[in-house]
Amino acid sequence: MISKRSGQFISFEGSEGSGKSTQAGMVHDYLKKKNIPVMLLREPGGVKISEAIRGLLLDVKNTDMTKESETLLYMASRAQLVEEVLKPALKKGTVVLCDRFLDSTIAYQGYGNGVNVEAIKKIGAFATQGIAPGLTLLFDIDTEKGLSRTNAVKDRIELRSLDYHKKVRKGYLAIAKKEPKRVRVIKVNQGKEEIFEIVRKHVDEFLGIPKYPAPIRCP
Ligand SMILES: Nc1ncnc2c1ncn2[C@@H]1O[C@H](COP(=O)(O)OP(=O)(O)OP(=O)(O)O)[C@@H](O)[C@H]1O
Ligand SMILES: [Mg+2]
Repeated sequence: MISKRSGQFISFEGSEGSGKSTQAGMVHDYLKKKNIPVMLLREPGGVKISEAIRGLLLDVKNTDMTKESETLLYMASRAQLVEEVLKPALKKGTVVLCDRFLDSTIAYQGYGNGVNVEAIKKIGAFATQGIAPGLTLLFDIDTEKGLSRTNAVKDRIELRSLDYHKKVRKGYLAIAKKEPKRVRVIKVNQGKEEIFEIVRKHVDEFLGIPKYPAPIRCP
């Protein structure tokens, strides 16, 4: 019987400093300990070509990048990652955890920067070959608090105005409102371990991991 958790895809979303990478790493460790085949990817990046595109996107020197060019570069990075690793991994039955995915482009370039959201979705469907997460964990944090948690050395996107980042946060919440079954909003107002307890419940439910291990049967 094919397990319910074969080929499952979970994305981690949220604005700057909301704890995506922290929680994605914790879920990765958790599933590995359970001997569940799992792969952790990040966007933009994850494979050589996509990491090179990441460099272009985040370089503070690229002040003249247009919003359309920026959107397409995120999509190019995603298309490469999907074809090179994500699709084959899902096919093999690996659980794929992705630190950001298409929702990031909708929130940052769409809601944040005014790129047409429907156009992003159409290009997104092409870039991803229609591959989408079945579960998205959206970490929602006060914008200023999140930004204060990011590195002292800011990248091109982090350097944008507070107003921009507030629009991104609103965009994410709008996405969640439209797709409440897929996108679970997690308020980041507790420590990492407490947040992980909430995350773990969503992951267990999505992957069909039983709450308690099956009892050992006596002969
Ligand atoms: N629940 C939490 N409480 C307090 N600090 C946290 C919590 N979760 C993460 N942090 C800390 O906040 C900082 C940002 O976390 P993390 O890098 O996981 O966020 P992120 O969403 O991946 O950020 P970015 O958008 O920059 O990629 C890190 O120093 C991390 O240790
Ligand atoms: Mg991160």
